[in-house]
Amino acid sequence: MGNRPRHIGIIMDGNGRWAHARGLDRAAGHAHGVQAATGVYRAACERGIEHLTLFAFSHSNWKRPKDEVEMLMRLSGEFAAQSQADWKARGIRLQVIGELDELPTTVRRAIEATVDATSAGTAMVLTLALDYGARNDLLGAVRALAARAQAGLLLPEEIDEPLLRRELTTGAIPDVDLIIRTGGEKRLSDFLMFESANAELFFLEAMWPEFNEAMLDVALEAFARRQRRFGRTAEQLAYGG
Ligand code: IPE
Ligand code: IPE
Ligand code: MG
Repeated sequence: MGNRPRHIGIIMDGNGRWAHARGLDRAAGHAHGVQAATGVYRAACERGIEHLTLFAFSHSNWKRPKDEVEMLMRLSGEFAAQSQADWKARGIRLQVIGELDELPTTVRRAIEATVDATSAGTAMVLTLALDYGARNDLLGAVRALAARAQAGLLLPEEIDEPLLRRELTTGAIPDVDLIIRTGGEKRLSDFLMFESANAELFFLEAMWPEFNEAMLDVALEAFARRQRRFGRTAEQLAYGG
């Protein structure tokens, strides 16, 4: 048994293509995507993963047709509300990253209520990335630091990595170790750019609604076989130094 990721991030892509291939509408694809998300949080928790972050709605996804945006928002709120009991039973704590302010009020309330209700969970932190974009998140952090500097509370030379991290909405979670993307595209699409500096990337052709426990295990096995060097040489890792 090799290394295991402490934090897995998943770019759940391919709902639309999965539905199209079956003569279904995109909404059906997203609904099946929620089922896949349920399967994966259970499997990750059962495997002792400490942090799982699911990319549910990107800052760029606001550009989609209004109906689809509404559908994705509604599904996110329902996912949180309907999973609440299961999360509590499993010790899963819900957290969100992104800009919650722009979400429809009902959705935001449902999510905030579940964040509160699951706050005692210690088995796994499940983070939903909603209206999340890494660039946008960095911008928010830079603005917050600039405001503190302008108010005379901070000197530019006092800004270091930990300080910047704390201002990101991901501030409370560790760097991502493994990013999994379904749907065949090999890109990050503005997901956790700062936090993935040393992440292993795992891309698979399967569409998100098809994702299952066995695929998670394949990704975990691939991760375990990779040597993470963090800039050092293989010899340094073997013999120290
Ligand atoms: C992922 O599936 C869900 C979100 C981006 C919210 P897509 O809707 O992007 O599916 P494809 O890429 O069109 O197949
Ligand atoms: C990435 O998928 C965002 C989510 C999975 C939420 P997209 O389908 O939006 O990404 P692009 O447009 O193909 O880069
Ligand atoms: Mg897509």
